[in-house]
Amino acid sequence: MTAPRVLVTRHLPEGGLDPLIDAGYDITLPVPGETLSHDDVVALIPGHAGLVCDLTDLTDAAVIEAGAPTLRIVATVSVGFDKIDRVAAAAHDVAVTNTPGVLDETTADLAFLLILTAARRSSGAEADLRAGRWTGWAIDDHLGTDVHGATLGVVGFGRIGRAVARRAEGFGMTVLHSTRRPTGIAGYVDSLDELLERADIVSLHIPLTPETRGLIGAKQIARMKEGSVLINTARGPIVDEDALVDALESGHLFAAGLDVFDGEPALNPRLLTAPNLTILPHIGSATHATRRNMAQMSSASVVTVLQGGTPDNLVPPPL
Ligand code: NAP
Ligand code: GLV
Repeated sequence: MTAPRVLVTRHLPEGGLDPLIDAGYDITLPVPGETLSHDDVVALIPGHAGLVCDLTDLTDAAVIEAGAPTLRIVATVSVGFDKIDRVAAAAHDVAVTNTPGVLDETTADLAFLLILTAARRSSGAEADLRAGRWTGWAIDDHLGTDVHGATLGVVGFGRIGRAVARRAEGFGMTVLHSTRRPTGIAGYVDSLDELLERADIVSLHIPLTPETRGLIGAKQIARMKEGSVLINTARGPIVDEDALVDALESGHLFAAGLDVFDGEPALNPRLLTAPNLTILPHIGSATHATRRNMAQMSSASVVTVLQGGTPDNLVPPPL
């Protein structure tokens, strides 16, 4: 019997392919130093039983259809699966898996880093120092807003949202949260508008779906308190970036922190000149240990599915 073939769109951290190697699978990788484009994947996928991709790969109907009927699993090395056409996958009986859980704490650390950096405007302070604009300590120099004691509004109270809330408790913050369904947990508010009106710092932890695309637009930002802070480590298109920049320029928002952007890796040029904005290049889960764990989880999911099992991290087909 020939070994199942698995296509991997990019080189993974050391050890990331171990479950596939241990299972004796036939792995197709890009040439060293390169990654596979969408066209490469469409051309290469026929005959493969598994595809290991990530959040930058558009795994659309063209990929799934090119992989049918041998393709049985798409495993994304990310928790977000917004670039995968789950309808096409379900139609062709292709399982989809992601990497829930293993990146929660790492991503929450990064969200908290942005909360602190944005609220204390430390990016601007460091830029001033490096550029020789700092003339010494002054009573009114680089003033931020307090994180301790502030009210944090967590939008989306799943794995990462809760991990951020745990950190906030250590900072003496009051934590509110909103989701589509009541959580039964203290701090739940049943409308996004109410959360936006009550929070000093709002942090987004919802998936990108048709429902959440543009969820935070000009109207929602206007509802946020004067002088409040917006943090987005979820997905770029959830926030209307022009509305965000308008609110930073007008001073309605005190500061913002973004790890994700609409149209990554391209950047809305207004973000680069907006005041009091900290921007990071989508590094939420970027630690050595977490990226290796994510890669191993994806590889293990492929093995489980190809051996006839059902992994815990199976993404359900859309309703
Ligand atoms: P999760 O455990 O599935 O939590 C998602 C939460 O969002 C749930 O509480 C869900 O509750 C809520 N939700 C879903 N749709 C909503 C809506 N329309 N309005 C309000 N709440 C809604 O997901 P997670 O693991 O925490 O990850 C969240 C997202 O973070 C991922 O999808 C990914 O896009 C992003 N992420 C980014 C990075 C990074 O590197 N920056 C790293 C990891 C993850 P209900 O369904 O009850 O509403
Ligand atoms: C990162 O953004 C992820 O979805 O894992």
